[in-house]
Amino acid sequence: MFTLLKQEGAARRGQFETVHGTIQTPVFMNVGTSAAIKGGVSSIDLKNELKTQVELCNTYHLHVRPGDDIIYKMGGLHKFMNWDKPILTDSGGFQVFSLAKLRKIKEEGVYFNSHVDGRRIFMGPEESMQIQSHLASTIAMAFDECVENPAEHSYSKASCDRTVRWLERCVAEQKRLNGLEETINKHQMLFGINQGCTYEDLRIEHMKRIREMEYCSGFAIGGLAVGEPTEVMYNIIEKVEPFMPKNKPRYLMGVGTPTNIIEAVYRGVDFFDCVMPSRNARHGTLFTWNGIMHITNKRYETDSRPIDEHCDCPACRNHSRAYIRHLFKSEEQLGGRLAVMHNLYFYNTLTEKIREALDEGRFEQFRNQYSSLLASKCE
Ligand code: GUN
Ligand code: ZN
Repeated sequence: MFTLLKQEGAARRGQFETVHGTIQTPVFMNVGTSAAIKGGVSSIDLKNELKTQVELCNTYHLHVRPGDDIIYKMGGLHKFMNWDKPILTDSGGFQVFSLAKLRKIKEEGVYFNSHVDGRRIFMGPEESMQIQSHLASTIAMAFDECVENPAEHSYSKASCDRTVRWLERCVAEQKRLNGLEETINKHQMLFGINQGCTYEDLRIEHMKRIREMEYCSGFAIGGLAVGEPTEVMYNIIEKVEPFMPKNKPRYLMGVGTPTNIIEAVYRGVDFFDCVMPSRNARHGTLFTWNGIMHITNKRYETDSRPIDEHCDCPACRNHSRAYIRHLFKSEEQLGGRLAVMHNLYFYNTLTEKIREALDEGRFEQFRNQYSSLLASKCE
């Protein structure tokens, strides 16, 4: 159940109750694609040090390796990873389109070759829901087609129509699976996904159709941050948002920079996920309250300060810029691990600060203070 606690313009402060605990929104979900955060950060780190509320895992990756049957036998993802808070699983829709080779899209689903061993695999709405039921995540995502950008209007329309039919099949299949004796999480929830490329008319029509499916516990905006200009993405959010139910969470998939998150909250979004904090960290790019820092820069060679003076993460509490730079330069794994912890802590703190600002009715002021600052180069 989603409760709207406060609103400032379109920006929302809420909470979302799940069988694995309550999620405070806006929230940034930490990406652990293959049931692990890349960079060697564990569930224990997420829980004890990084203020993580939700972990995100991928249906496609876990189906290919180790296999969802194995995770089911291990009692589901929560037990497998030793993580007892909410988990959202993406449906495989996006990964099949971005990773798999030789794919063929049909009404029944998608045929493709695994990126690991080349094995021919079929995934449709039923298969995706069955895998997600095996994984026993808190929230399952609908199986969708993320249309490439750019795409023709006619192709996008046909794809949207199919994604509506796929959502109907996801709803029916999840209802069936949640009713089975052997299902681990019988309270698994489903989020529908809005598509429509960059076409306002398709986006709105698609949203109107999927919101009719009352069974869905939330709705996502997919198919954005796939190469279109940022202003185009903001415009689509603004156009679709009025047609999204007020009493359910809204999730902007795969977004984004700290600035993108502030700007999307401003336009009414509640949930986010992105590989950016962990991926950038592994390449030495760190987010700070003064902007973006490249820790491998020579200027940090003898800098005894922490990455960010205002940060309470394990890296900043214990180590200097000079030391972390040295770890990167000498390719020590610890460098990546500390950097990932810092960036995830930064994102989790960013959404926490957004929530506090909304609670206190000063989100507008927060946006003015940080929206462009966080995108600048740290001096
Ligand atoms: N992750 C980022 N974008 C998308 C999308 O459009 N669909 C799905 N399923 N996952 C995504
Ligand atoms: Zn830090």
